[in-house]
Amino acid sequence: VGLADAECLSLWETLSCGYTETQGFPLLRGECAKLINDEMRSPPDHPIAADDILMFAGGEEGIFTMIKSLLCENDHAIIVAPCYQSVKSIAETTCKVTLFDLNPQQNWNLDISKLETIIEPSKTKMILINFPNNPTGATISRSQQLELVNLAQKYGLWIFSDEIYYGIHRSEESPLCMATLYDRAISLGGVSKSFGLAGLRIGWLCTRNRGALNQLAGNKHYLSICNSAPSEILSLIALRGRKAILKRQSNIIAENLICLREFIARHSDLFEWVEPSGGCCGFMKILNRSMDLDVVAEHLANETGILILPGSNFPCSAENRVEMNFYMRIGFGRKTFRDSLRLFEEVIPLYFRERK
Ligand SMILES: Cc1ncc(COP(=O)(O)O)c(C=O)c1O
Repeated sequence: VGLADAECLSLWETLSCGYTETQGFPLLRGECAKLINDEMRSPPDHPIAADDILMFAGGEEGIFTMIKSLLCENDHAIIVAPCYQSVKSIAETTCKVTLFDLNPQQNWNLDISKLETIIEPSKTKMILINFPNNPTGATISRSQQLELVNLAQKYGLWIFSDEIYYGIHRSEESPLCMATLYDRAISLGGVSKSFGLAGLRIGWLCTRNRGALNQLAGNKHYLSICNSAPSEILSLIALRGRKAILKRQSNIIAENLICLREFIARHSDLFEWVEPSGGCCGFMKILNRSMDLDVVAEHLANETGILILPGSNFPCSAENRVEMNFYMRIGFGRKTFRDSLRLFEEVIPLYFRERK
């Protein structure tokens, strides 16, 4: 509340908890548009408008609504993996899905020419990406974004771009909002990750395609109908205070990343990674091939309270399934991360045997 301007304070004090607008609070949508235009470099002659944005109860509802609205049984979708599990699960209940893996041997790079080879002309309808990527922390360059748009244009494909971790990138060049680049692109954003406000359940989809946006709004009527009124005002306060919030989050993450980098250097006989270039999670490879990470993760959680996510939780192609099971995701977005890492380091001898 210390961040709130006079307008937000007054909105908060006069808040009523009736139904809100299905599209989302206009001031909040306007602020999302500003975030995209100011920070994600929408071309100045064609800025994103508040009406290009539809609010949802978290990113998750946006993903569900988008897949169920734009894909159907006879379609084929390509999902770039490893990915957030729900995207794959929802898509698989809807259409044929092919998982296309980022390459750990090339810094989790997205190989766009290889991706083209799995497009099924006239059947493939959508490519789904997520950068900064959960779980690897890989990012996409602007030139790759444009290359992907060219590919989508060539085959008339939708691009769904999950940008929920946007705001925590570490490269010089910030990624662009895909929806600003292509009229069949839909970008997902929200306050859950970069803003650390997952409990508000506020996410949004942005697209210049008004036909798609109307379809999505129509289907939202069967889900949350509208957003939580207090959450809309609190999210407005957060978006207006974004410079301070994102700076605070980035500082926490930068400090945690230094500790994690040093930790991995100290245990290079056990762990290996491609350092994440965005977001607040990294994917560490376990060098001890005799370990069952699922079992270790369960023991760790029950006995120490430390949560690691084994690679088995993350969808990837059958070709890389076994390899991916020797990875684990570590989240380093919280202020308490260093304490958890210290504890993790103490218990390593108990859970991670030395490599033979
Ligand atoms: C890549 C990605 N997209 C979307 C979501 C869903 O976000 P929300 O918590 O806003 O529903 C998550 C949550 O973990 C995620 O990791």
